[in-house]
Amino acid sequence: MSDTVRILVLNGPNLNMLGVREPDIYGKETLDDIRNDCDAHAATAGVSLDFRQSNSEADLIDWIQQARDTADGIIINPAAFTHTSVAILDALVLTELPVVEIHISNIFRRESFRQHSYVSAGATGIISGFGAHGYLLAIDAMVRLTASKKDA
Ligand code: DQA
Repeated sequence: MSDTVRILVLNGPNLNMLGVREPDIYGKETLDDIRNDCDAHAATAGVSLDFRQSNSEADLIDWIQQARDTADGIIINPAAFTHTSVAILDALVLTELPVVEIHISNIFRRESFRQHSYVSAGATGIISGFGAHGYLLAIDAMVRLTASKKDA
């Protein structure tokens, strides 16, 4: 088996609309811009990325389940499913993989319904409020969390 660390990056609903969606909250970068920045950062760090987005909870759950066999860690911005989805939490827990939950905005400074995350109970850690740069911070965190694979 290759010793290259494989990171699955998942993005939930409405994140395909970044750039035009509430830019005062989410910034002007599109999801493609973020994907390109992530790919460049991953190449520098020597890890491989599989970057995906879906508006469907079922897609996200299927991809998380598959990651049990195909990835070494999961970075996830569950978007609105953060605040509703026990099913995504359960899927993350069953993978037994390190998980970094990321939010572009600081969910704890926003409406009260955004201040609770079901997903966090299945996350190793959370990055929230650093804008699109948070994705790069999440990759750095995942490189640390999976370092033992490279050393093995
Ligand atoms: C978000 C925060 C969520 O509350 C919201 O529903 C999103 C994006 C963020 O990245 O800041 O869609 O996850």
